[in-house]
Parts: sequence; C-alpha cells; structure tokens
Amino acid sequence: MMHRFIGAVRSNLGATGGTVGVVVLGIVGSLLVGMPPPFTIALLLAVGIATWGIYRWRSRDLDGQPAALGKLASSGLIAVVGVLVVAQLVPYGRDHTNPPVTGEPAWATPETRDLMVRACFDCHSNEVTWPWYSNIAPFSWATVDHVNEGRDAVNYSEWDRPQDEGDETLEEVKKGSMPPRYYTLLGLHSDAKLTPEEMSTLLEGLSQTPGLSE
Ligand code: HEC
Repeated sequence: MMHRFIGAVRSNLGATGGTVGVVVLGIVGSLLVGMPPPFTIALLLAVGIATWGIYRWRSRDLDGQPAALGKLASSGLIAVVGVLVVAQLVPYGRDHTNPPVTGEPAWATPETRDLMVRACFDCHSNEVTWPWYSNIAPFSWATVDHVNEGRDAVNYSEWDRPQDEGDETLEEVKKGSMPPRYYTLLGLHSDAKLTPEEMSTLLEGLSQTPGLSE
C-alpha cells in the first residue's frame, strides 16, 4: 500500500509538487485573513486531493505529458470551484444571531461608545453587522468563528454578567492588538481604522469608563 503510494507520488512529481505548493500557499494566505486553522486545513486538503484526482483522471492517456503544467493548473481550478460549491452545504456559519443587549459599560462619553462600536462591536457585541460575504463559505466560517471567540473573550452587550477580560480593553487598544490586523486588511472595515486623534479620544474615554482597565 505504502509502496504503491510512494511509487505514484514519484511518477507524478510535477503534479504532487504543484499540489503541495498550492496547499502551502493556501494555508499561509488563509491564516493571514484569520481563517480558523482546522477549516483551512480541511478545505485545502480537499482541494489538494481533488486536484490530484482530477489531474490523474484527465492525464490517464498522456505519457510524455507536454501539457502537464497547464493540465495541472486547470485541474486545480476545477477542484477549487468544486470544493467551494460543496463547501456551501456545510451548515456551520449560517447562524447570524444578535442576542438581546442586557447591559453595557457605563461609557465615559458618547464618543467613547461610538468609537468602540466602529472598531470593536462587530466581534464583541450583540449588535454585529453581518457583511454579505458572511453568507458565503469559507468566509462565513471565519466570520462566525471571530464573532464567537470575540464574544467569549468579552461581550460589551452583556455587561450585566462578569466579563473576565473586559479589564484588558484599554491595554489591548493601547498595544494595538485589537482590532486584529486581518479585520482592516485590504481596505476592509475602514470605519474601524481610527485616526490618531480618534485613538487618543478612545484611550482617554476607556481609561475613564469603569471596568475597562486594570
Ligand atoms: C474581527 C473581530 C474582532 C474585532 C473587530 C475586535 N476583536 Fe477583540 N478579540 C477578537 C477575538 C477573536 C478575541 C479572542 C482571541 C484573541 O485574543 O485573539 C479577542 C479578544 C479580545 C480581548 C481579550 C483579551 C485577549 O487578547 O484575549 C479584548 C479585551 C478585546 N478583544 C478587545 C477588543 C477591542 C477593544 C476592540 C476594538 C478596538 C476589539 N477587540 C476588536 C476579535 C475581535
């Protein structure tokens, strides 16, 4: 079994190398945009296996394979489209709920809240604006994952119950680690990119809002 597998890989070095390359690029790219790693790996594995299978099937009569690279690339394309179509059937990621708001911090000023809404509420509140692409896998998986994890860490809409990491708010913003870099990548959510003045207004407001700093 193993022997046959190694033999197959050896006689298809081009195809195998190309497929592995695409998968590695995909992993790096999707981690950059904040895809949850298990989904990334499952998706790319599916694309990799499908590419290889389609390529093998389409090349079964070719021996010298002068068109091998082109055939590999087009097989990859067919595999990507096929896997994306099948991915839409996965039920995870469709549940776009906004539970009731049961309490908020006693914001120091209305501007503090406005800035928090712009930069943070899409992941840390029950007033999430779900973008259109949150209906399309794999973006739907990433969006729901960010919102679930964000709400778990701190939910500014449920201030009636203890928020373990709420007191790290000021620190996170000061450090620049929130919002996460992928959130404003490629011009996405430009509203969440605060100017230096807005940033100092926010830091000032957060330091004067109870429960948001240590
Ligand atoms: C795109 C979604 C997203 C946005 C927007 C976002 N966060 Fe987060 N936040 C997360 C996720 C996911 C976590 C938990 C995992 C982690 O730490 O990366 C988190 C964690 C936190 C934590 C807990 C400490 C920690 O590092 O685990 C705090 C506090 C926080 N965020 C504050 C904020 C503030 C304040 C803003 C706005 C300036 C903001 N976040 C914007 C997704 C987001």
